[in-house]
Amino acid sequence: MPLNRRALLGTGVLAGVAACTPAPAQKTQNTPNVPQRRAFDPQDWASVRAQFALDPAYAQFAAFVLAPAPAPVRETIRTYRDALDADPEYTPAGGRSPDQAVREAAARYLGARAEPGDIALTDSTTMGLGLLYSGIRLRPGQDVLTTEHDFLATHEGLRLLAERTGGKVRRVRLYDGPAAASEDRMVSAIRSGLGPRTRVVAVTWVHSSTGVRVPVRAIADMLAEVNKGRDEHDRALLCVDGVHGFGAMAGGVADLGCDFLASGTHKWLFGPRGTGIMWGRVWDAVAPIIPSFSQAAFDAWQSGGSPGASTAELVTPGGYKAFEHRWAMPEAFAFMTAIGKDRVQRRTQELAARLKSGLRELPHVTLATPESQELSAGLVCCSISGMQPLEAVNRLHAQKVVASVTPYNEPLLRFGTSIVTTPEQVDQAIKAVEGLR
Ligand SMILES: Cc1ncc(COP(=O)(O)O)c(C=O)c1O
Repeated sequence: MPLNRRALLGTGVLAGVAACTPAPAQKTQNTPNVPQRRAFDPQDWASVRAQFALDPAYAQFAAFVLAPAPAPVRETIRTYRDALDADPEYTPAGGRSPDQAVREAAARYLGARAEPGDIALTDSTTMGLGLLYSGIRLRPGQDVLTTEHDFLATHEGLRLLAERTGGKVRRVRLYDGPAAASEDRMVSAIRSGLGPRTRVVAVTWVHSSTGVRVPVRAIADMLAEVNKGRDEHDRALLCVDGVHGFGAMAGGVADLGCDFLASGTHKWLFGPRGTGIMWGRVWDAVAPIIPSFSQAAFDAWQSGGSPGASTAELVTPGGYKAFEHRWAMPEAFAFMTAIGKDRVQRRTQELAARLKSGLRELPHVTLATPESQELSAGLVCCSISGMQPLEAVNRLHAQKVVASVTPYNEPLLRFGTSIVTTPEQVDQAIKAVEGLR
């Protein structure tokens, strides 16, 4: 099937042409209207919350699972969807690759050291990690270190890597009781798990099993010391599933100090469903897995060659996408930036602290998530004595409190405090949990 102009522009292939060619006349009905924004005061939490179409009858503590999008994101999706429905050849005006605009917005959000060219566009965290662990070039004798606490996306991605390459994957335990987790113990567990040729260290920024926030920066600093004595190709690469930190915590890639960060943008960032990013700083360590629709890939294909060294763009899977979602990603970055990354983190953690301190008082509740702000984010996990988490979730739902169950071997009851929850709703949740006794 020949590629149409819109798909190629979307992925950058025709962007250079379009930049010097007037955009084709759009049919009048294809020209999207500028979205009408509702009044939005990013300084006012009620106004922030009013941007969401959440059912006001419920206190929503599971928004992070598959996030609802705020009004500007929804309106932009609608605008692009209508334009694409009216004209499948529709391309946003301006002649610039919309994917490039997404990368630029993501790079600004990721902060210092993030360049648009370092960012692959994905559909989810799982896709990002899948591309990373399918593509990472493991040499004979090199191995992988991960932990016992990561999600399926990391463990399965690494299992498949081991199956394909024969490379060994080892797991270390970072803590026994999560509530008593400590930075020193987590860093030293990784340190002692390293082999002389460990190439990949795969960790998760915030554990969705317990709410523990892993000291990624301290691990990166430790690895920097270890790597000083290593050959470039044996350098241990710190690869992070960032999804429960990205959007909730203010830190950017320079603060984390990792080599790769994969995250969906449809959780704590409240971006369009089915979108994600992967930032990396050593793309030549990763082979592309799915053919990209980049200019380099098309040029190489048409001339019968190879596009050459790996780049984030070459690792970005090609193919037609739900472009109305992808092209609305900059609105999600802009929304969170308007509120302020530091304010979002503070709000998320203040509400989590309020929830933890209320739950701690309840004799039938055992908190799993650490009290320390440094070792936690917006996830709060606990168990209820004598009750399965699923039953707790169902009973809380009847009290108009939405929580979730962690999808792990030892499931816990889980809450996520965020920009869509209020202090009053936190108190409502504590009262509802008190009623579970
Ligand atoms: C730690 C962690 N990583 C990844 C995922 C999956 O994220 P995505 O939907 O972006 O693939 C989840 C849960 O959905 C998770 O808890």
